[in-house]
Amino acid sequence: MKRSGARIHCGTPRDLSLLARRLRAGELVAVPTETVYGLAADAFNAGACRRIFSVKRRPATDPLIVHIASVRDLSRVAAPNEAALRLAKAFWPGPLTIVLPKNEAVPDVVSAGLPSVAVRLPAHPLFRRLIRLAGTPLAAPSANPFGYVSPTTADHVQRGLGGRIRHILDGGPSRVGLESTIVDLRNPSRPRLLRPGGISHQEIVRVLGIPVARPRRKAGSAAPQVAPGQLARHYSPRAFVVLHERLPDRAGTGATAGEAWLFLRKPARARGKNIYWLSPRGELPQAARNLFAALRRMDEAGYSRIHAELSRAPGLGEAINDRLRRAAAR
Ligand code: TXA
Ligand code: MG
Repeated sequence: MKRSGARIHCGTPRDLSLLARRLRAGELVAVPTETVYGLAADAFNAGACRRIFSVKRRPATDPLIVHIASVRDLSRVAAPNEAALRLAKAFWPGPLTIVLPKNEAVPDVVSAGLPSVAVRLPAHPLFRRLIRLAGTPLAAPSANPFGYVSPTTADHVQRGLGGRIRHILDGGPSRVGLESTIVDLRNPSRPRLLRPGGISHQEIVRVLGIPVARPRRKAGSAAPQVAPGQLARHYSPRAFVVLHERLPDRAGTGATAGEAWLFLRKPARARGKNIYWLSPRGELPQAARNLFAALRRMDEAGYSRIHAELSRAPGLGEAINDRLRRAAAR
């Protein structure tokens, strides 16, 4: 059965040049990145960027990330400093976003009126080729309706936004699976981690050689509130998520209908269709890659309560926990 919705392109040179033309004409294109799929528009076109907000039903107070294809383009959108260039050299292309003073060429709608802008040089080869062909930096938030779980496949985008956009570039499942790490370098001598992601706090400290402030969790709240637009409740499935430091190996016995369990690794004993795991052997990169798809599958299966296990590992474990806490926030 043919589903109506956006057209899915597979990234032939012909597809890419068509999509680059659409972007230059001010249209929106959903794009693959190594973190999650994004909904892209010409970052210098205020009208096109405004449409990103309306398609996603995203509040205008939540700024977008601007994507570039080469470090040389950084100064087209921001005022770089030495610390930013050092992080760029170490981690770009990759899952790291840097917040810097904004170049006035970037319209205010992109930065939600802030004098700063968030910039990333993504690693996904198709997306980078598309940015190059478009010849302009591309503003792109995650390609999901505001507040829902971020998409890590073209099909996730189709299901969430297919009725409201025309083009999706399919670049396969996202390799990292969690949104980028965001570092605030507006003041390079006082760097701050705004969102944990694929690049760890420790790796950033190692490259910058100075302390990096971490997001603080307010007492009594389930998630940090540091970057604008980083609502506590975000990345959320419809189901109610309950967090556990450790899930019992016999989880699921005596469960009420509607309850399901999400383990980090395959449990030794628990079995049943309401038992899910993120990685057979609990490998963190694989767990991160599978997290959002697992939450979607559990939603689709109709569970109303998801018991999820937090990671005890640093680095990626913290990023997984951050997304689980947001999913659990009410
Ligand atoms: O991995 C990612 O970062 C993905 C892919 C598509 O690149 N994008 C993404 O975008 O996660 P989004 O819109 O879901 O999250 C962007 C977040 C905003 O919610 C905000 O917290 C932060 O980036 N941000 C953007 N501009 C900022 C600024 N000027 N200052 C502080 N935070 C900013
Ligand atoms: Mg998002």
